[in-house]
Amino acid sequence: MIIPVIGDSNVSTGALMVPLVEALDISKQFYGIKALSNVFVQIYPGEVLAIIGENGAGKSTLMKILAGVHQPDTGQVRINGTEVNLYSPSVAMNHGISLIHQELNLADNLTIADNLFLGRELLWAGPLKLLDRKAMFNLGAKYLARVGLDVDPGVLVGTLPPGQKQLVEIARSLSLNGRVLIMDEPTSSLSQKESDQLVKVIKELSSEGVSVVYISHRLGEVKRVAHRVVGLRDGRNAGTLATHEISHDSMVRMMVGRDLEKFSKPLALGQSSKVRLELQQFKFLGGTPSGVSFQLKAGEIVGMAGLVGAGRTELAETLFGIRPSQGGKSFLDGDNYTPRSPVDAIAAGLLLVPEDRRHHGLILLQSIKQNLSLPNLKNLSRFFLVDPFKESKLSSDSIKSLGIKTTNGNKLAGLLSGGNQQKIVLAKWLAVGPKVLILDEPTRGVDVGSKAEIYELIRHLAGLGVAILMISSDMEEIIRLSQRVLVLHEGHLQGELSGDDINEESVMLLATGSKEVNIK
Ligand SMILES: Nc1ncnc2c1ncn2[C@@H]1O[C@H](COP(=O)(O)OP(=O)(O)OP(=O)(O)O)[C@@H](O)[C@H]1O
Ligand SMILES: [Mg+2]
Repeated sequence: MIIPVIGDSNVSTGALMVPLVEALDISKQFYGIKALSNVFVQIYPGEVLAIIGENGAGKSTLMKILAGVHQPDTGQVRINGTEVNLYSPSVAMNHGISLIHQELNLADNLTIADNLFLGRELLWAGPLKLLDRKAMFNLGAKYLARVGLDVDPGVLVGTLPPGQKQLVEIARSLSLNGRVLIMDEPTSSLSQKESDQLVKVIKELSSEGVSVVYISHRLGEVKRVAHRVVGLRDGRNAGTLATHEISHDSMVRMMVGRDLEKFSKPLALGQSSKVRLELQQFKFLGGTPSGVSFQLKAGEIVGMAGLVGAGRTELAETLFGIRPSQGGKSFLDGDNYTPRSPVDAIAAGLLLVPEDRRHHGLILLQSIKQNLSLPNLKNLSRFFLVDPFKESKLSSDSIKSLGIKTTNGNKLAGLLSGGNQQKIVLAKWLAVGPKVLILDEPTRGVDVGSKAEIYELIRHLAGLGVAILMISSDMEEIIRLSQRVLVLHEGHLQGELSGDDINEESVMLLATGSKEVNIK
């Protein structure tokens, strides 16, 4: 067992050094796979504790144990020094621990106030059990104010952007007397502004004595928000960092167990002059009437930046034939290209790896092998029957080349960790051999190590002559990978940056609608 050394300076409430929650010697297996082995973690009152680790390291499993979703095979959980049996989420909640899932658990068709008080509605005094809407609105407004959300409690949750939904979830946990809020990748689908707001709220809550456990692959954010960082590696404790020890490199070392190679910009790529995709005033739903015009050349990695809602996903989905084009011209390898469905797009050689992989990219209830085979059935079949040998080979080759963490290809895709699911989505399309590949947020929810692998893969594909359009909200990713960056703003192309002109400031300026970007 690793006992972290905790200095007084780590926690804002330095005087109270009694842990509120302790997970001691926790082990957990799923069908023979060890997700956690003898893990130890303590949570102090008012601290922001980050848990980091590669995909599949066991972070979510540990948090689900603290939140009463899973029970440990061995080990114990203590609250204020007393052992507790968290056999269900409501028991954990009664102890003040609540888990805010990445897939938020709000009812879109109810108001904010209804969501806040779902299952424990406030009633008028008297025998009729009438709902006291006014009381719920008033109290609701107080909790919303605590998370800095200035929205009427009568608004339907479905109309809120993701960042505000996240804040409603937090308000709900607070209204349940939450003392420990666990956030599993809370910012992975938030815009930069929304993430900043969340970080601000977390800091405020912590100064009020609420403990926040924060799981994220965005190390910059972890550094900004965490008082202490606990690392997990392969289901075991990998170390603890005190506030003054937290840096990008120390976190990477703890997670990966080694230093990652420093990243250099691609140089030789993108030399080809062969135009793969050309759009001339291409119009799409959500875009401006004049449309967008640009070219993608063979071997190029072109980043597409923009704020949430700028129309990036809509453009990608139109190019992939999911949404009908609204006019303008498009050519693929010089031929007219107007896909009416993804089947047309795939046949022409344009592929989209979608943003929301859980809904569009993978069949979670099928095995890894079946998922990989699906778009490749033509190559895998003989006389209309899938050749089991070829199918297994594709699966084992992909697992090996992409470093997918699984015991074998027969495991259900839905049981893999987020990053590993993403690699399968990529692998399944790669085997098809695309001409143009559109990646929508390719490394969302992916750990640093896997990110590097996915970047390698993207560059490898570019090297093979594929034209790559990479939509990303991760500025570091855009800057590191792109040779050119197209910036969308409110449905039109606000500007283009290339080479040394690609930097955070210029991208942000264009993304927020400025035309005044200083290009050297
Ligand atoms: N319900 C389950 N059934 C079977 N295996 C599971 C289940 N939940 C998790 N696992 C396995 O346990 C291991 C740890 O998974 P976990 O989801 O805790 O990782 P993680 O650190 O949260 O990863 P990520 O960063 O990708 O979210 C993985 O190998 C995963 O496949
Ligand atoms: Mg997880």
